[in-house]
Amino acid sequence: MAQITLENVTKTFGAVTAVDRVSLTIAEGELVALLGPSGCGKTTTLRLIAGLEIPDSGRIFIGDREVTRLPPRERDVAMVFQDYALYPHMNLMDNIGYPLKVRGVPREELRQRVQEVARRLQIGDLLDRRPSQISGGQQQRASVARAVVHEAQAFLFDEPLSNLDAKLRLEARAFLKHLQHTEGVTAAYVTHDQAEAMALADRIVVMNHGKIMQIGTPLDVYRNPQNTFVAAFIGNPPMNLLPCHLDMAQGVLVVAANQAPLDLGLLRERIRVALKDGDSLTLGVRPENITLGAEPGPAAIPGKIYVTQPLGGETLVNVEVGDQLVSVRIFTEELPPLPEQVWLTLDLARTFLYGPDGERIV
Ligand SMILES: Nc1ncnc2c1ncn2[C@@H]1O[C@H](COP(=O)(O)OP(=O)(O)OP(=O)(O)O)[C@@H](O)[C@H]1O
Ligand SMILES: [Mg+2]
Repeated sequence: MAQITLENVTKTFGAVTAVDRVSLTIAEGELVALLGPSGCGKTTTLRLIAGLEIPDSGRIFIGDREVTRLPPRERDVAMVFQDYALYPHMNLMDNIGYPLKVRGVPREELRQRVQEVARRLQIGDLLDRRPSQISGGQQQRASVARAVVHEAQAFLFDEPLSNLDAKLRLEARAFLKHLQHTEGVTAAYVTHDQAEAMALADRIVVMNHGKIMQIGTPLDVYRNPQNTFVAAFIGNPPMNLLPCHLDMAQGVLVVAANQAPLDLGLLRERIRVALKDGDSLTLGVRPENITLGAEPGPAAIPGKIYVTQPLGGETLVNVEVGDQLVSVRIFTEELPPLPEQVWLTLDLARTFLYGPDGERIV
């Protein structure tokens, strides 16, 4: 296994900059998730690592070898595609063994290696079947088996679980993480599912419009989103973002949706940049860092219960604040009765403030 490094890599297609000055190192044995909305450049980044695209500028290394302009076969990386790309006319033995066959591995050794990998992936008794004769989850395993069978330097996964139903997807996720840990695989894993990225990855790279918005461990990205894009992308439901403006004379933030004043209190000491009276800011607070009550307070905004959604172990409450809906997560199976008019008290130690450019200032 080897480390993967991208240095200031840019790739354009005509007028579209698919990957924009991306620098990133995936350490040996690390799984890094590339996360972002459709079209943000995730697949292009993988294809650049695999050698299926050549960058306009920048450099790519696998281990300490520069591979920027090498063809795919000289890079020794294995790719698992979203649609599995299994050959329909071949049985699983031939599909999984294909990378070994093209490398000239003798037939008997090929059979043994395929059987061993297939057994570990629990598809050992399906080797004489064709892809059309097995389930989606089994196809996904066959596709992973084909990638791992030739012990490549690194693995590239492009949304490998997106074709599976919710239950299989969770199973496959646990299985992939277990495999990655036991084999110490270096991997780049593309997904647009933030829960999958959180659950699987050692680190997450959040992308938007070809650019890296933030890199960090899953918890770091969840707890400390550096800009409103990441704040709104991570978490289900995501962080509440409330536009507001600064009233220095009163020492308050005024929430735009309902003009409620919020005591700057704790936040004031944490503001790291010079702000002006009237500045337009965005307050960010996760649904679990708000409590609902009947009483006002310095860190409370008034709202009106819109709907409550029991989710089993927790309840999601949507509260109308002016014309905006705010999500509140309460870790209780049964919600105590609440008045229609409530006060939302923010945990100011876990509240963020983003500047006019969307970058975090608290
Ligand atoms: N071969 C190509 N020719 C022209 N434009 C391309 C090509 N490949 C990708 N693009 C464009 O580059 C941008 C990034 O595409 P990419 O496939 O990397 O996105 P993605 O993040 O993988 O999206 P998705 O989640 O939908 O798979 C998009 O605007 C896409 O239309
Ligand atoms: Mg893609």
